[in-house]
Amino acid sequence: MHTKKILFSLIGGALAIFSANVMAANSEEHKLAESHGCIACHALQPASKTGKNPRALPIGPSMQEIAERYHANKSPGKYQELYRIVKHGSSPYRSKWQGKISGLAMPPNDDTISDLDINRLLVWILTDNHSGK
Ligand code: HEC
Repeated sequence: MHTKKILFSLIGGALAIFSANVMAANSEEHKLAESHGCIACHALQPASKTGKNPRALPIGPSMQEIAERYHANKSPGKYQELYRIVKHGSSPYRSKWQGKISGLAMPPNDDTISDLDINRLLVWILTDNHSGK
């Protein structure tokens, strides 16, 4: 009886998380980012825009801030470097977001994400407006 109850609430929890993700993800690339765990550390927008506590540092920079900083018109040639960071991870000793995030580094994804999907994610990060619509 007891085990059944626990199991039931676990399934309920998993369903709630699943439907929250499905409702939040609006494009194929957003879904891809959800399924690869990017959204766990990178919100779409900075806390100042979402009404979340802006004093609690996020783990990683928001997708919108990354787009603003590295949009191709502003930072030509940055694409290769960003590609390398998403594929192989970043150095914990050289954060480019010091004071703005609590995470130490971008983890590597070379074993888990295909080159094609890394490109799809990066193009989405750099060109979407990240309003979630
Ligand atoms: C465990 C947390 C975590 C996960 C998961 C994660 N990131 Fe990151 N990511 C970070 C942190 C922290 C940084 C900031 C690195 C720094 O300080 O320079 C970062 C940096 C980046 C950058 C580069 C920003 C820059 O200025 O160099 C990109 C692009 C990026 N992440 C994309 C992604 C994508 C795409 C995914 C999913 C495949 C992902 N991240 C998953 C934590 C994470």
